[in-house]
Amino acid sequence: MTDATNAQDPSTLTTRQGHPVSDNQNQRTVGARGPATLENYHFLEKISHFDRERVPERVVHARGAVAFGYFEATGAWGDEPIAQFTRAKLFQQAGKRTDIAIRFSTVIGGRDSSEAARDPRGFAVKFYTEDGNWDLVGNNLAVFFIRDAIKFPDVIHSLKPDPVTFRQEASRIFDFMSQTPESMHMLVNLFSPRGIPADYRRQQGFGVNTYKWVNAAGETKLVKYHWIPKAGVASLTDADAAVIQGTDLGHASKDLHDSIEAGDYPEWDLYVQMMDDHDHPELDFDPLDDTKVWPENEFVPKKVGTMVLNRNVQNHFAENEQLAFGTGVLVDGLDFSDDKMLVGRTFSYSDTQRYRVGPNYLQVPVNQPKRPVATNQRDGQMTYSVDGGPNPHVNYEPSITDGALAEAAKPAHSEQGPELTGRLTRARLPRTDDYTQAGQRYQLMEQWEKDDLVGNFVALIGQAARAVQERMVWHLLMVDDELGLRVGEGLGIGVADVAHLAPLATQTLNESELARLANLG
Ligand code: HEM
Repeated sequence: MTDATNAQDPSTLTTRQGHPVSDNQNQRTVGARGPATLENYHFLEKISHFDRERVPERVVHARGAVAFGYFEATGAWGDEPIAQFTRAKLFQQAGKRTDIAIRFSTVIGGRDSSEAARDPRGFAVKFYTEDGNWDLVGNNLAVFFIRDAIKFPDVIHSLKPDPVTFRQEASRIFDFMSQTPESMHMLVNLFSPRGIPADYRRQQGFGVNTYKWVNAAGETKLVKYHWIPKAGVASLTDADAAVIQGTDLGHASKDLHDSIEAGDYPEWDLYVQMMDDHDHPELDFDPLDDTKVWPENEFVPKKVGTMVLNRNVQNHFAENEQLAFGTGVLVDGLDFSDDKMLVGRTFSYSDTQRYRVGPNYLQVPVNQPKRPVATNQRDGQMTYSVDGGPNPHVNYEPSITDGALAEAAKPAHSEQGPELTGRLTRARLPRTDDYTQAGQRYQLMEQWEKDDLVGNFVALIGQAARAVQERMVWHLLMVDDELGLRVGEGLGIGVADVAHLAPLATQTLNESELARLANLG
């Protein structure tokens, strides 16, 4: 039953039809003891809306925390004017601010899972620029498990719960990884203390994939992005994490929310590494390989700006659950590289969002660009605005009447970057070197971090089948002799026990890896 007398009072509870509600505690029934009537619109709207409250959670990165703020540019790449390298407007002037949204996340658990899990952390930033949105969708570990997008469903299935037991099983993870040598660099990071960041404020972020910058002349550079937290980096051991998640599954979301509420605004500086845009045969890795970092002494990261987070979400569902990032979301002056992961990611994000949030996910306020939108796309589920141009009759192009027209193509847009030739093929990158950087990472660790890594590997690899354990020890010997020997010792596996794996491994090894293998024997 509704009551028209309070119609203009904004605090009056109404239905979605705008009818004031007179009783929200009792259904409409025939007599006090029922039966209920079916024409009770308010009751039906309330229950049927509740029945539809959830959308599917993200297939990965389901749990996350969102905040808002701004990015302030330095106008430079280190000491050099940035316009030499990119024409992206958000970077050009010192002090220029661009609104941003950020979502930190874990990867594998569901949307109510523990934030103290050993898991990479997602680090996704949406820049609402005057040229439309730019999404930089990265992680905290700088590298990834695989280098070709076709393997993504497999690596994620191995990390997700077993389809029978619905438990994450170390045996499945290492079964996959032990046959995926390019994952070693990521594993050495993930099973070290860095694999459990203390919270979202005290972690680095990395774009991971290689992108391009384009200047006004259409000249291109390869770039990688790094976010460095002003609060420093802090991590948890398994023991620390166990204590936290014993009482709180959402400590990192709480920490982020509370520090923003208290006016202690988290900040990160954005640094960029740069290379000329070609394949760099002088390097022992491919610049398009996301299992590699670029040595910082050769490719010095230089600051381009700072991000400040100063506002919390007002509603988790509207601004977190429906928030949608993607690697295809770039603005003029920024571009893709030919990284085989990046192209796969770029398809996957908007594809899943059209399913997860709906075909009009870009009309949700948190995803809308902060410049006018004029497309000829119309209709579909949950259309609630018309992103039309000046003439509502015209939803096609060309037209002799006023419709939304594409900008005249600028030569620089169609002629940027090197010219490519190649035969259609299915092949892995010629330069793999799956072990050197993983070994360097191990060598850079402090002693307690090395001990923690070895302990974690022994405990978890030990749950896998013996053949998988042997393969892992063999790979870890290739990564670093000491690491392989220590993990082998913990598992009761010596070098002689794994020598028989060499012929198998030659199928995936390059020359430098084979030379190292020969020395091990
Ligand atoms: C989320 C696919 C690799 C970082 C997602 C989602 C998909 C996906 C489907 C869910 C998106 C949504 O529902 O809105 C892929 C594919 C990959 C890949 C196919 C490889 C081919 C990576 C890599 C990184 C990464 C290498 C890190 C550099 C993220 C982040 C999110 C995410 C941060 C969460 C975004 C958010 O907070 O909404 N990915 N991903 N992904 N992915 Fe990837």
